[in-house]
Amino acid sequence: MIEQKRELVTEIPGPQSRARLARKQAYVADGVGTLLPVFVTEAGGGILRDVDGNSLIDLGSGIAVTTVGNSAPAVVRKVQAQLAAFTHTCFMITPYDGYVDVCVELAELTPGDHAKKSALFNSGAEAVENAVKIARVATGRDAVAVFDHAYHGRTNLTMAMTAKNMPYKQGFGPFAGEVYRAPMSYPLRDGLTGEQAAARAIDHLDKQVGAGNLACLVIEPILGEGGFVVPAPGFLPALASWCTDHGIVFVADEIQTGFCRTGDWFACDDEGVVPDLVATAKGIAGGLPLAAVTGRAALMDSVHAGGLGGTYGGNPVACAAALGAIEEMRTHDLIGRARAVGATMRERLEKLRAEHPVIADIRGRGAMMAIELCAPGTGEPDAARAAAVNAACHRAGVVTLTCGTWGNVFRFLPPLSIGDDLLHEAFDVVAEAFVTTA
Ligand SMILES: Cc1ncc(COP(=O)(O)O)c(C=O)c1O
Repeated sequence: MIEQKRELVTEIPGPQSRARLARKQAYVADGVGTLLPVFVTEAGGGILRDVDGNSLIDLGSGIAVTTVGNSAPAVVRKVQAQLAAFTHTCFMITPYDGYVDVCVELAELTPGDHAKKSALFNSGAEAVENAVKIARVATGRDAVAVFDHAYHGRTNLTMAMTAKNMPYKQGFGPFAGEVYRAPMSYPLRDGLTGEQAAARAIDHLDKQVGAGNLACLVIEPILGEGGFVVPAPGFLPALASWCTDHGIVFVADEIQTGFCRTGDWFACDDEGVVPDLVATAKGIAGGLPLAAVTGRAALMDSVHAGGLGGTYGGNPVACAAALGAIEEMRTHDLIGRARAVGATMRERLEKLRAEHPVIADIRGRGAMMAIELCAPGTGEPDAARAAAVNAACHRAGVVTLTCGTWGNVFRFLPPLSIGDDLLHEAFDVVAEAFVTTA
């Protein structure tokens, strides 16, 4: 394992990274941005090492992907064995055990003890699209309900489902139709209980779409890109039971929240919500591209043979990685670790809030925590401060991310392989960044 120590030997980014950035700018499309252009050569535990020899603390996990850590031992072991055995056959042509093994795990781990089946894909957006396809076939209805601040991906349908225009949608339309947006529970900003917020959303959908026209309701149980907003308790259960009452497929987009991130296998577990379909990706495979839709067997089976799939969906190497990642989660009790990491982060952030009134909210669950920055006492988003703190953290060798509709949310998603010392050191840097940017 790479040495678990933050060490800066050059400025960030260093000269080697800057030279590579020029090469990137010459050959990689400008539309593919990079937040922190240090070129990585090695990563593991809680550290990313770059070409200049700098070691940075990772509080982003490549956007909630390397929950088990980079190159986690069980992932490496299973992927290496699979690479040596075979790399691809296409499951739709000649199948293999790894795909089915992942579906068995998903049936076991996702919420609910009913009979479940899965289909595997390559990316989160693809999983969301396929959940909608399944819901439409199963219900014979067209309409899709999504929420304010939602992020579901960058394909045409998932752009329509995503709320934020810049940078995700600007100029890319026209978008897929029959997508309707309802108000989300946002406790900092709406002051509503979960039940009140659900009643508001339901009324909105009832009046503007009609429950009987909805194929599915797709929701992130904790918003990801939209700002780590945790809906008020009772919001998700009320929506789920409304869906059940009206034959609407309740789809949980657990792409960012799933696989131990929130201190449960899935964020829906917190309130015992059992979705009809669950979309997963990101943390499922320790860094390899894999995604899934898992759901009630009868619902999944409503699609005709050949209606779901894709050349690479459930690629054997990605499946091996998923089986390795799940082994890591079980062996190292990463649910418990996520809760412990979350408790440490919350404690550090509470201290920070006491000193910096720009921190209007601390929220999240487990190892998915965030702070929302607003001009004190106004609720006015302070994106400039978030950007300044973020840049200061980067200069000091801590990889942090922002998010939120207004770009004023600072989010923390450390790999669960990070040690307590590094985690505290990272939050020392964050605290210092608040002081220097005040
Ligand atoms: C909640 C959620 N849904 C869907 C996606 C899209 O996943 P992908 O980028 O793998 O297509 C993301 C990615 O950030 C996400 O956070």
